[in-house]
Amino acid sequence: MKVTTTAAVFAAGALAAPNRRGAAAACSSAVTLDASTNVWKNYKLHANTFYRSEVEKAVEAISDSSLKAQAAKVADVGSFLWIDTIENIAKVEPAIADTPCEDILGLVIYDLPGRDCAAKASNGELTYSEISRYKSEYIDLPVDNPKLTSFPRCATAVVAILKKNPNTAFALLIEPDSLPNLVTNADLQTCEDSKSAYEEGVAYALKNLNLPNVVMYIDAGHGGWLGWDANLKPGAEELAKVYKNAGSPKQVRGFATNIAGWNSWDESPGEFSKASDAKYNSCQNEKTYVQKFGAALKTAGHPSFAIMDTGRNAVTGLRKEWGDWCNVDGAGFGERPTADTGDSNTDAFVWGKPGGESDGTSDSGATRYDSFCGKDDAYKPAPEAGSWNQAYFEMLLKNASPQF
Ligand code: BGC
Repeated sequence: MKVTTTAAVFAAGALAAPNRRGAAAACSSAVTLDASTNVWKNYKLHANTFYRSEVEKAVEAISDSSLKAQAAKVADVGSFLWIDTIENIAKVEPAIADTPCEDILGLVIYDLPGRDCAAKASNGELTYSEISRYKSEYIDLPVDNPKLTSFPRCATAVVAILKKNPNTAFALLIEPDSLPNLVTNADLQTCEDSKSAYEEGVAYALKNLNLPNVVMYIDAGHGGWLGWDANLKPGAEELAKVYKNAGSPKQVRGFATNIAGWNSWDESPGEFSKASDAKYNSCQNEKTYVQKFGAALKTAGHPSFAIMDTGRNAVTGLRKEWGDWCNVDGAGFGERPTADTGDSNTDAFVWGKPGGESDGTSDSGATRYDSFCGKDDAYKPAPEAGSWNQAYFEMLLKNASPQF
């Protein structure tokens, strides 16, 4: 899918770099992030070149002049860059070159073996048995690996790149949906098959990415997932187990919530509070989820501060069910990234999912077609996960709150 377009977009981003504010190369000293504090108070989420070039192309395709002007502003919004394949690690260095000293570059670590075990839309390139490729080709290549000379990929794996750029600050969002799937979808064969690779892979990532210029948040689904009363404790214990297996890395700050999600921050009563099963979930909005899941994490011995994705949550009441996750129709861009969340447990609102990129294809004949992307509340037509959907982008823009 995206792989075929990478080279072109990446080139466009790289060309655009010299026009940006001060580049990281100009930052003269090494960054040390103190993960016992909220680093978002000092750094702004970077508007990376990759999303910028997607948005710039989208702007060109719009003819209505006022919508065009609004769309152009989206290019300046900070968002996370998804490193969803080994090949796409190549996006990181151009993004670093464009990151000014006052910004933090957000990266999503997203290539676990057997990825997306409870759905099909984002099934990854690695099968569940390929944990050694995840470790060596994606995260890092250990120096004693005998393949070092025949596969000099060490220079291009994520850890090596972050180490090579000590003057840049990075916020890493670790493996969306992976550990939550182990908590609630363990009965699926695909998730059972992936369990050991997920736990080993996430622990390996946390341990090896534990660098002074990095702060990490482990994905914890959202309030409509691990927020069910029965899931809070097992969810927190799963994250804590993996974190401890990694040696309790000091650069882990807490968890990420609502990544690529649709939940409101503080709608009250919550969006699904009238559902017949609402009494079993006391986390009807993300603010409550941060509080309750954070407390459960603390008890389990895991850092408990959160970042929340507000990229596409401007409009609520669109989903038939809380678990509907694919290209929700009628959605709008939400709150811009900020450290002013008004909540001491929530470090920042961020744009996790780059709005305009699809969650999954609506083509029922495609290998990665997931029936959630064909539901009544899913926007159609939609391309493969990660590919650009111009019409969806324009809808997010029109429904944005605050408006652009
Ligand atoms: C896709 C990735 C994509 C990411 C961000 C995921 O659902 O599987 O390929 O990079 O979304 O759009």
